Amino acid sequence: MKGMAIKKYGKTSPLEEMEFPIPTLRDEDLLIEIHAASVNPIDFKNRNGMVKILYTCPMPFILGNDCAGIVTKVGSKVTKFKIGDRVYSRPPKGRSGTFAEYIAIDQSYVARMPQGLNFVEAASITLVGLTAYQALHDSLKLTKGQKVLIHAGSGGLGTFAIQLAKSMGLYVATTASDKGYELVKSMGADEIINYKTEAFEERLHDFDAVLDTLGGSSLTKSFKVVKKGGKVLSVSGIPDRRIASQFGLGLLPHVLLTLASSPITATSYYYGVDYEFLFMLANGQQLKHITDLIDQGVIRPVIDQIFPLSEAQKALDYVESGRAKGKVVVQIRE
Ligand SMILES: NC(=O)c1ccc[n+]([C@@H]2O[C@H](COP(=O)([O-])OP(=O)(O)OC[C@H]3O[C@@H](n4cnc5c(N)ncnc54)[C@H](OP(=O)(O)O)[C@@H]3O)[C@@H](O)[C@H]2O)c1
Repeated sequence: MKGMAIKKYGKTSPLEEMEFPIPTLRDEDLLIEIHAASVNPIDFKNRNGMVKILYTCPMPFILGNDCAGIVTKVGSKVTKFKIGDRVYSRPPKGRSGTFAEYIAIDQSYVARMPQGLNFVEAASITLVGLTAYQALHDSLKLTKGQKVLIHAGSGGLGTFAIQLAKSMGLYVATTASDKGYELVKSMGADEIINYKTEAFEERLHDFDAVLDTLGGSSLTKSFKVVKKGGKVLSVSGIPDRRIASQFGLGLLPHVLLTLASSPITATSYYYGVDYEFLFMLANGQQLKHITDLIDQGVIRPVIDQIFPLSEAQKALDYVESGRAKGKVVVQIRE
């Protein structure tokens, strides 16, 4: 089968089309004929070697962290799916690689595709959908009427997170440029701060939580808008040592992450606002819940651009530019 892979880590390491064997199945695996895969910042971060402290990939390594397609074969203990099912998934760590014609994924990480979506739309959902779900429900534990600031509302994650937050009955403020204004408004954002002309931390006060997708100074300033006892959750800032435990890392990475995250830990104590870094996890049950929300018309996909598999490098470059409005998808088959 064809796969778009890197031969080594590095910012200039190109994605090359290579031949790979079709994956063999474990007992609980489905073989998925991939029709579309979305591009996420984790793909270029991985290519650049920025997540090597958490896990290393065997080379050559196929990029791509979510997919939609058709089940073409099932392992001997598969009970939830059958050949011909239209499914989507965010594969678990260590078994990713969706810029390819096929992938084998354990059934527990897979869900039925939402009924009204095509493969491109479905592929755009899984990684960002699960991240938003785990952020707003599991980590921030937000409930109806609470106020959340979601940074970069016009991005792949932001467009999903705003819609999910609104479906939970939350008041949503978001940051966007004038280019993303209409999009975040159409997602349902209650308050939009143009980050090019206004400082969000001067306008917003007493929020219950922030979902930070930017890191850096936006993360630090986010503590100012949250009331005491609230929480800042980042998916883009400095991982704390809980992430070292999540990845089962040794003492040295624990120490390094503790040191690296100590300034943000100090900021968190100073403001009396909790801080957590989230590294999302693959989860078929939660994806099933997301399917239900999309079937009910509560959330819709937002696609910016579609590229053929042979142009996966261009798709990756576009996402790395940081300017995407919604999701960028690689189409493998019609
Ligand atoms: N830890 C995890 O598990 C996890 C999971 C998912 C995502 N993430 C991270 O979350 C981040 C966002 O992901 P994504 O998929 O949403 O990225 P994305 O789609 O590439 O985000 C691009 C968007 O960000 C907007 N933007 C850029 N700078 C901004 C700023 N200073 N203020 C407000 N908006 C800004 C851009 O709008 P303009 O062009 O108009 O500026 C653009 O629409 C990435 O760093 C990604 O790695 C982490």
